Amino acid sequence: MTAAIDWRTRVGSVWAEEWQRTDRIFAGLAPHLDAAIRTAAPAASFAALDIGCGAGTTAAALAAAHPDGRITGVDVSADLLAVARTRHDALTNLTFRHADALEAAADLAPLDLLVSRHGVMFFAEPEPAFARLRAATRPGGALVFSCFASIADNPWATLVAPAPAPSPHYTPGPFAFADTTRVATLLAASGWRDAQPQLVRFAYRVADSDDPVEEAFAFFARIGPAARALHDATPSERAGLAVLLRDRLAAQRNGAVIDFPAAAWIWTARATGELP
Ligand SMILES: C[S@@+](CC[C@H](N)C(=O)[O-])C[C@H]1O[C@@H](n2cnc3c(N)ncnc32)[C@H](O)[C@@H]1O
Repeated sequence: MTAAIDWRTRVGSVWAEEWQRTDRIFAGLAPHLDAAIRTAAPAASFAALDIGCGAGTTAAALAAAHPDGRITGVDVSADLLAVARTRHDALTNLTFRHADALEAAADLAPLDLLVSRHGVMFFAEPEPAFARLRAATRPGGALVFSCFASIADNPWATLVAPAPAPSPHYTPGPFAFADTTRVATLLAASGWRDAQPQLVRFAYRVADSDDPVEEAFAFFARIGPAARALHDATPSERAGLAVLLRDRLAAQRNGAVIDFPAAAWIWTARATGELP
């Protein structure tokens, strides 16, 4: 599980160091998400919040497409925000805030648009969290976010360790929103209407270089389920896992690149007229 506390410290720092590679894994998803956000955005001047903005790519795409929108990217990782500020300094309608998303939303209310690329699956208690986001949004305001679909549709996540057994209990993490029935129920219960998921399949590119197997190995050794499995293994188990991982990466190699199939849901919803 990746809880908010991890993002504030070690995990956020690693993502900040690896921001170009994490941006690349989402590059096939980004045009679909950005298009859904542009479709949902109000025509006139508006206030938007990018929840868990990381290095700022989604917030910057929205700010560039809507010069009259006031966009705030919020994240709990100071290291990721430092990258975001450096990258997107030229966008005068985009600001970044170091805070919990729920606190920032309350502070910026009323918001017209909430967006997120894979940043909403880490709340310890999602229903109260989404109710607080709803309370910070104007009635009719839009919510657009992406999240991973099932682990079975994302084989990059099980290269060296099997998928965890399904749990009836909610556990924050990258696959916490994979079940569309659970998410639809959550959104309805927290004051969001007309919720619709759209499945997007994309290439999860983990290497593009002269030595793609070692590039991908270095990435997987730092980020995602393989990194956790390698970290948790004994030294002898770790050596075996490293051999297995390199073999699987080599089998997936296509010239200079290594792509894995991946799938995500893009959810859109509207704030109800009544506070939940
Ligand atoms: C999977 S990363 C996605 C980052 C970015 N949206 C992107 O697409 O590259 C999840 C992000 O959510 C942030 N995050 C997690 N919980 C948060 C919270 N409660 N408030 C604000 N940010 C949060 C993390 O620090 C991290 O940057």
